[in-house]
Order: sequence, then C-alpha cells, then structure tokens
Amino acid sequence: MSGPPPVVYLDNAATSWPKPPQVVDAMRRFLTEVGANPGRSGHRLSVEAARTVFRARAALARLVGLDDPMRVVFCANATHALNLALQGLLRPGQHVVTTGMEHNSVMRPLRALESRGVELTVAPCSPQGVLDPEDVERALRPETALVVLTHASNVVGTILPVREVAAIARRHGALVLVDAAQSLGALPSTLPDLGADLLAFTGHKALLGPMGTGGLVIGERVDLARFEPLVRGGTGSRSESQAQPDFLPDKFESGTLNVVGLAGLAAGVEWILERGVADLRAREARLTATLLTGLAELPGVRVYGTRDPDRQLSTVSFTIAGTEPGEVGRRLDEEHAIAARVGLHCSPIAHETMGTFPVGTVRFAPGAFTTDDDLARALAAVGALARAARR
Ligand SMILES: Cc1ncc(COP(=O)(O)O)c(C=O)c1O
Repeated sequence: MSGPPPVVYLDNAATSWPKPPQVVDAMRRFLTEVGANPGRSGHRLSVEAARTVFRARAALARLVGLDDPMRVVFCANATHALNLALQGLLRPGQHVVTTGMEHNSVMRPLRALESRGVELTVAPCSPQGVLDPEDVERALRPETALVVLTHASNVVGTILPVREVAAIARRHGALVLVDAAQSLGALPSTLPDLGADLLAFTGHKALLGPMGTGGLVIGERVDLARFEPLVRGGTGSRSESQAQPDFLPDKFESGTLNVVGLAGLAAGVEWILERGVADLRAREARLTATLLTGLAELPGVRVYGTRDPDRQLSTVSFTIAGTEPGEVGRRLDEEHAIAARVGLHCSPIAHETMGTFPVGTVRFAPGAFTTDDDLARALAAVGALARAARR
C-alpha cells in the first residue's frame, strides 16, 4: 500500500523529535504510577516524585561536570533560565557584553535591561558567525559584570570560543553566562571545562526531553546574595517563613515543578550519558559533512556559516537563488514532506551579522535519529527546487 511518504524531520534545532522511547515511558510511568507533588507532602508518592526530580538534577549535574546537583535550577525553558540570570544579576550602571550571534532570548531581555540603565556592548562576529575573543576583550570595561554568549548558533551552528572568552572575562572579574540551548547534549560542555559561571539549557532540544523543561546551572563564583529570583513563592521548604529561601535550588524554584517533564528529561539525559556526548557528536558531525557537501554541489544553493563540520553543530542554513526561504519551506513541506524551519529563527541580530536580514534562510537541523536516507531525500528535494528556480 503506498501512502504519503513519512516526514523527514529536520527541525531539531527548534525541538528534537522523535524522542527516545525511554523518555515517553518515563513520562507515562510518572503519570500513571506516581503523579504526586514533590517535596510538599511526606507520603510515599510525594517522596517518589521528589526522587524523580532529583534523578533529573543528578543526571544534568553529571552532564555538566558538577558534583553538586543542587546547583541545577529547573526552569520552564532556556528563555526562562536566561531571563532569570540576566534580570537576577544585572543592575543599572553595570555593563554587559554579548555577541552578534545571539538568540532573542538573550537580546530581548538585554535590550529591556538597557532601557533601565544597564550598559550593553555587542561584540561583532564575522559573516560566518565566528567570534574573535579579542573583540570581547576590547569591549570589556571596569564595570563589566557579565559576558553572555551562545555556545553554538541556532542559525548556522557555529561554535563560539566560550573557553577563550571565559578566560578573558575571568581575568577582568566578569562572570560568564553561556546560552547552551543548542549545545548541551550535542557538544561535550562541562562547566569546569568551559570555565563558565552560569549555563542556561533547554530540555526539549539536544537533551531529548519534553517541552516545558530547562534550567540554569549556577557555578561557585556566583554570589547568591546578589542574585535575585524572578519569582517568589511556595517551595515546599521553610514553610514556616514568609521570606524566600536563600539556598539552592529553592531560592529560584518557586511553584510546582513540571515533574512529568523532568521524568522525561532525566530519561533523555541518561540516554545521552549512556551513549556518550562525544560519540553522538561524531555521528552528527558525519551527518553535517554529508549535508554540507551535498548542498555545496547544488547549483544556485548558497550555504552560510563556516561550512566546516568540526566548527559547527549539525544546523545548516542555506538559500536557493530566485526562491524566497518561505516559499522553499512551504514546498519542502507540501511537495516533499520535509520539515525545515525558514526565516529569521528568532535571531535577527545573527541574520544582520550574516547579511541575510530580513529575509532569513532555510534551516536544516538533523538530530540524534536522522538517517543517511533522510539526508539523501532532503538533498534530492533541495536539488529539485534549485533546478526549478533556474528554469
Ligand atoms: C540559542 C538559543 N537560545 C535560546 C533558545 C530558547 O530556548 P527555549 O525555547 O527552550 O526557551 C533557543 C531556542 O530556539 C536557542 O536556539
């Protein structure tokens, strides 16, 4: 029986799909067998729910190379985690440095803080999305409190030199916040290795968990007394007090957590730890090379970024001469059952850097379950659209 071809899903930079079966099983198990609120009651189901949260915390601490799971604070997503760090740490009169490749989850809170008296400098990147650490050093001032940068671009996958930037920032007494929304799970990235102080992550991309999960990893150099929570309220701890707890993670985790999501996230991170981030990265680098080589061979197709699989994630951006990205995306979906993302990818500043603003690009983002056959189909489809545009 022939039906429509199954969808080739190349939108893993937006959210990963499919998820490992273990993720689905863990969420189903929590909902059917546990279901209680963690840390709020003393009964066995509440204790089991607390264990589920701890399992996610412990798995993430292992992944980011920290001994203390309490330094992992859960949030709804990376946007929430980035807002917590930026709004919680920066004060009027302080200076913050960021880069020309950031997502709006960094730029929008920074622009809002700028309007309230925080000074902002954007260190430029090359049109390939490459950041020279010296440009960050040139931007630093005595009152620079924070450098915030993405680990890897969500538009072209370019890996930014976090370790070098962190070493510079440290010499100047500034903290470093890494937006690891794209990289955690896809690139070996421990906090000690990167030399960073804070790392914002999302659960639903390379960590293979569900939407509605994410968090902020808080390193030891961060002064908790000067770090304000975004939200205050019930934590299940110190119930006798009307004041917000001042310890981790409770200071920043008011309100009932998404425990069913965290059950799935724990399973996703454990799946990654079992396979090893380095091995997953090697597999994705091979897929990236296939994609980059295949696209480069198609007349009329322009690929952006470094075009070097060792210097980028599997996210690849391209355009087809004579066809708007929006139209390419529509035809990929309707005529070829290929799911890609088009446009500005919530990163207008990155497209300004690359010279692709305001139209944007077409983005292919293979993931942990993308196959060679998927890429062959995607390349054939782009080839057909590129040929049609030249006729
Ligand atoms: C680099 C980067 N930062 C932040 C985010 C925001 O992540 P979330 O959707 O989990 O809030 C994304 C998501 O696309 C991203 O790619």
